Order: sequence, then C-alpha cells, then structure tokens
Amino acid sequence: MRKVAVVGVGQSKFGRDTKHTLPELSWIAIREALEDAGVEKKDVGFVALANLGVWSSEFFPAPLVLEYAGLTPSGSMRVEAACASGSAALRVAYQAVASGMTDVALAVGVERMNESETPKVVELLGRGGSYFWEFEQFGLTFPGYYALYATAYMQEYGATEEDLAKIAVKNHYYGSMNPKAQFQKRIKVEDVLSSKYVAWPLKIFDCSPITDGAAAVVLASENVAAKLTDTPVWIRGIGAATGPGNITRRSDLLSIETVRTAAEQAYRMAGIWPESPLKHLDLALVHDCFTIAEILAYEDLGLAERGTGYMLAREEQTYIGGVIPVNLDGGLKAKGHPIAATGLSMIYEATRQLQQRVEKDRQAPIKKGWALTHNVGGTGHFAYVTLLSLER
Ligand SMILES: CC(C)(COP(=O)(O)OP(=O)(O)OC[C@H]1O[C@@H](n2cnc3c(N)ncnc32)[C@H](O)[C@@H]1OP(=O)(O)O)[C@@H](O)C(=O)NCCC(=O)NCCS
Repeated sequence: MRKVAVVGVGQSKFGRDTKHTLPELSWIAIREALEDAGVEKKDVGFVALANLGVWSSEFFPAPLVLEYAGLTPSGSMRVEAACASGSAALRVAYQAVASGMTDVALAVGVERMNESETPKVVELLGRGGSYFWEFEQFGLTFPGYYALYATAYMQEYGATEEDLAKIAVKNHYYGSMNPKAQFQKRIKVEDVLSSKYVAWPLKIFDCSPITDGAAAVVLASENVAAKLTDTPVWIRGIGAATGPGNITRRSDLLSIETVRTAAEQAYRMAGIWPESPLKHLDLALVHDCFTIAEILAYEDLGLAERGTGYMLAREEQTYIGGVIPVNLDGGLKAKGHPIAATGLSMIYEATRQLQQRVEKDRQAPIKKGWALTHNVGGTGHFAYVTLLSLER
C-alpha cells in the first residue's frame, strides 16, 4: 500500500442552513478543500460521497453533487455508515489512493437535516438503532440509547450529571471560538443542569443538535503530495469495526466494543500499540453526540483507564494545558453534527490543528505532531479511528 496524505480540507459553516441545496452546500466545502490543496478538478480521480440523506430530498446525491461541482472522476460512490459515514468515505478514498487506483481522491460528507422537522429527524434516527426490536417495540430514540449508557455508567462508577455537564461546558467554550460552529455561546454547568430533560439523565445541553453542513478532504499519494504542499498531514493509522445493530447483543453498556477494536487497529498500524496513546497525541477529536459518549470515548481509546473517564471531565483535563485537549472545535455538541459530514469535519479540524492554522485561543500546542479522530455510527454499529501525523 502507498502512503497517503491529507493535502486540502474544507468545511461549510455548520448550523441551520435551508438556503443552500445539497449540491450547493457540498460545493462550499469542496471548493475550499480543492483551493486549500491547489488541486484542479480534472486531477480528482475518485470521489466518495457520504450522505445519510433520509431527511432530505435527493435520492442519488453523488452524481448531482459531482455535476454541480464540475468534477468528472473516473469513479464515485455514495458511502453510508450512519453517523460515521464521513469517516467511512475517508477510508474508501484512502483505499483508492493507497492501492494505486488514483493519485488524488476526494471524500465529501454532506447533510441537510433541517429539511425535516425535529420530531421526524428524531424518529428517522431512532429507526437507525434496531428498527424491529428496539424502535417499533419500545420506541427507543438516540437520546434514549445514550441515556441507557449514561445511566449504566453513573450507577457503576459514581459519575454525576455535573460531570456530564462539564463536557458540554468545555465543548461550548471551544465552539464559541470556532467561526464554523453552530453554537458560539459559552455556557455554565448550571445552564446544562437547568435545561430541559430529553431522556433522563440527558438534558438538551447534553445532546448534539440537528445540523446542516458539509465537509471535504483531498487525499494524495506521496509523489503528488510532495508537489502540492510543504505540510502534508499523513494518515498513519485508520481502523474500522462493525458491531451488532441490536443493543441487547452488545457485551457491555459501559464501553463500545467497536471503538476498542478500531482503536487497536489504528494504533497497531501506526506502530504505537500497546503504548499509551497519550505519549504520542497532541489532541483528539471524539464523537460526543451526547456528553456521555465523550466520556466513554476517553476510556475506549485508552486516554483514561476504564471507569475513570469522568474524572478527566471533572478535573478539566481535556482543555488545552490538561492531559490531552479534546474537541477544540466545539465537538459535535457545539460545532454541530450534520451526520455524514461529521467524520470529515474532524479531519478538517485535526489537519488544521496540526498545521497550526486555527484561531489562537483554541490552537493546541503541537509538540509531537499527532492527532486522533474518533467517529461512531449508531450506538456503536460502526466505529472509525484515524491517526494523523506530520511525520511521514
Ligand atoms: C435535543 C433536541 C431534541 C432538541 O431539539 P428541539 O427541541 O427541536 O430544539 P429546537 O430546535 O426547537 O431549539 C430550541 C432551542 O434550543 C436550542 N437547542 C436545540 N438543540 C440544542 C442542543 N442540542 N444543545 C443546545 N441547544 C440546543 C436551539 O438553539 C433553540 O434555542 P433558541 O430558542 O434560543 O433559538 C435535538 O437537538 C436532538 O434530537 N438532538 C439529538 C440529535 C441526534 O440524536 N443525533 C444523532 C446522535 S447519534
């Protein structure tokens, strides 16, 4: 397999955006990524487009997006892995370059969730759990699923609603400095605790919002990357795992097994297994679709021992200056979570952090040159962990 680098990234401003059509929204991110890479449209040999799209009108989005963008790759496909669709598209584009099928590939993620009303979006997401066994029979929706994780975790380890709230406070703090975030306001623990319950113990401020947005990443082979940029960001580890859909078939509600599997694959590929990832990473972007998910991620990625992730939140160790900065873009919580764009938006942020191109007050100190992204689909149906490095 050939080495593959991220050479350009783009992202639309996340939020409520019913003004742009799906191709228009995609183009905002694609144009920025192509310009960032200095790549011409004709040089893009393959495109992977991530889009769940159940709430919006386009049924075959890839040809429409390519037509609007003026791209004519020799191959393209739509990729879907629930909330991890963006990372799945990255992996497909990575494989196209690593295998030698093309020198330049583009991964795009886009979602127009606000084309449907909130109750419809919540219902459609809920159907994505395990439709027959859990949605139809018990009415489980995503806040409900993650409330189960939170309840089990709090009961087992003694974490509190305040600990969960501190994740939201941190992510809103960094989101307030990110011009592309959906929510740019700081909040306090009391704001979270006094917000309305969605599914106990999760309140509205424990949830990621419903978001429209797009993100795009240009990947290139080693020879092409050397011609395009002095600061390529190398994909050094890319792990993926798929688990059962039905939550009753999971071994454990205190951990997401697919994440542990994907993380081990990525760490092994990067040659850092079984050392602590904390020795290598400058920052991490993790999938905080609900505040409890960020705490589980700390543990499943090996950033904290099992049962102690909430202490990182309690002691504010995932701010800049702590053990490891996490979600300096605001995370899904404050930046927003346009389902299929999220994984690529993490690559957008990780790349710009490593290249030291983000706003000063939310720039992590880059000492080791490594960043991690963690993207979960469903309740753990899919997991993707990617390691990016300034070192080839
Ligand atoms: C939590 C949720 C139900 C709230 O939706 P809602 O009740 O329709 O909220 P509204 O859009 O009516 O917004 C009401 C207010 O709350 C704010 N708000 C909405 N969601 C918010 C969130 N997640 N965090 C903070 N504020 C939020 C809105 O900005 C709005 O504020 P305003 O009145 O000052 O303008 C919805 O955001 C949700 O379902 N989130 C989870 C999405 C999800 O499951 N994603 C997949 C994860 S795997």
